[in-house]
Amino acid sequence: MAIHQHFSEHCMHRTNSPIIIALDFPQPKQALDLVHRLEQQHCRVKVGHELFTRGGTALVETLVNQGIEVFLDLKFHDIPNTVAQACKAAAELGVWMINVHALGGRTMLIRAHEALAAYSQRPLLIAVTVLTSLDEDDLYALGLHGTLDENVLRLARLTHACELDGIVCSPHEIHTIRREINDNFVLVTPGIRPAHAQQNDQKRVMTPQEALQAGSNYLVIGRPITAAADPLQALQEIEASL
Ligand code: C5P
Repeated sequence: MAIHQHFSEHCMHRTNSPIIIALDFPQPKQALDLVHRLEQQHCRVKVGHELFTRGGTALVETLVNQGIEVFLDLKFHDIPNTVAQACKAAAELGVWMINVHALGGRTMLIRAHEALAAYSQRPLLIAVTVLTSLDEDDLYALGLHGTLDENVLRLARLTHACELDGIVCSPHEIHTIRREINDNFVLVTPGIRPAHAQQNDQKRVMTPQEALQAGSNYLVIGRPITAAADPLQALQEIEASL
């Protein structure tokens, strides 16, 4: 099959919803069952390391072939050539969005961007700046001086200068980033909790509505939907709140 064919067949946008559901399940069957239950809402989904390591490309292709837009959250971070080839492999799966670590450096980011340029309908390419699990002490130990915000902003600027489409960031970083990079740079934000939902292990959260108002483009939401007694109802309630 020609590499572009996936896109023309499957990547017609099915939704205007900003919600990306984090399919954080250990087993592919659980992920596919949830997707089936939520089918009528036409939502995008995120496949991360655990699910991908278990379900592999077969799972991603199953989702893509159902017309679902997939954010393949594998955070590539390696030498430029390896990352460029991995980006091509992901593009040829027909996914909607992929990501890399900005800490891979300028050349890696540029090569990742260039690797996708050949595709007529390429996935969006975004970067992780600073993992939200790190605090300033961690950054200092890594030799990254300055505040958390300064590091996030520096890596966001680098990502933007390398012409990537956007970044993953905390909703609390949106304001700082949007003040400087205010064009079509895509901000994808996890750490989202509807007003009455449990925070789980997320420390600094925002409601879906607040995050969108602050300038987020896509909201990554997992447990408030995936662990709900009625995931479809939970998703519909969040959609209605937007
Ligand atoms: O269940 P919950 O809504 O907390 O899921 C959030 C998703 O976003 C998880 O897949 C998590 O790994 C991811 N994520 C995050 N914080 C980041 C980056 C990714 O919560 N900084």
